[in-house]
Amino acid sequence: MNATGTTVTAFAPASVGNVGVGFDTLGHALDFAGDRVRLTVTEEPEIRLDAITGLTTDLPSDTASNTALRALTAIQKECGISEGARLTLDKGIPLGSGMGGSAASAAAAVTAAAEAWGLALSDQQRLRFALEGEMAASGALHADNVAPSLFGGLVLCEGAGYPHVTRIPVPTGIVCVFVHPDLEVYTRSARNMLSAQVSLSDHVSQTQAIAGFIAGCFRSDLNQIRRCLKDVIIEPQRAGLVPGFRQVQAAAMSNGALGASLSGSGPSIFAWCETGRAAEIQACMTEALHVEGVSCSAWVSAVDAAGARLED
Ligand code: HSE
Repeated sequence: MNATGTTVTAFAPASVGNVGVGFDTLGHALDFAGDRVRLTVTEEPEIRLDAITGLTTDLPSDTASNTALRALTAIQKECGISEGARLTLDKGIPLGSGMGGSAASAAAAVTAAAEAWGLALSDQQRLRFALEGEMAASGALHADNVAPSLFGGLVLCEGAGYPHVTRIPVPTGIVCVFVHPDLEVYTRSARNMLSAQVSLSDHVSQTQAIAGFIAGCFRSDLNQIRRCLKDVIIEPQRAGLVPGFRQVQAAAMSNGALGASLSGSGPSIFAWCETGRAAEIQACMTEALHVEGVSCSAWVSAVDAAGARLED
């Protein structure tokens, strides 16, 4: 198919990696921010970044290091596409925010390219190409941002490398309060700091927690979700990256949150709660950061937020 000249725009949302309880395993989409890719098919085979606009423009523009370009290069190679593409990347997700920005750029690029190059990619292929892109930023194959950004909602990713993705139902009336401190944490370094050893008792606690959390979602059992939305392994190692993290978490919990933790590797902090508690929890989380002298932005998002989509 000759698609030269075709222009397509796609948007992919920010996401909460880990969802506290499921390191590299659970993630959910957010509805208030995302990245946008505008792609034009070219006759010459190069994949080129014309411009980066939006909240951050300080990103690599070479195909090996830019997550969107790297995802497109992987599609081009595997699908035998002879045409190239020119891209504009509009970043609605701040850099190093814990909002899955590198994954969203890759997810938006894959969504745009599949349409523009006329490829009927399966979900598993879209996931694999977007993950290939995401690798450029985090240095590891974890799908807990890419999968929710592509497919939306709360998802479970299981299997090493290119995982299987299962959509998990979200109980009605549950929202995510999301607070982004004006700080940067880079996933690659926040992964390098993690211990490779896990004690048997922590392993047992965390296994029980993730199993109970997923059961709680399927059963709409908010007490079970409240008991299980916790992280005894990763969160203690990263808590120090965000000044006031424990205070923000305690503020959310003492105001009725079902659970609160770092979003991905931080610095953003999320809390799940019933819709009616959200405004109060947002106010107390924000206040707890201000007491620590940290400014922030905050939102309330659906947990079952939509995934990547084409735009006019
Ligand atoms: N699972 C990843 C991590 C998410 O915690 O390192 C990064 O957003």
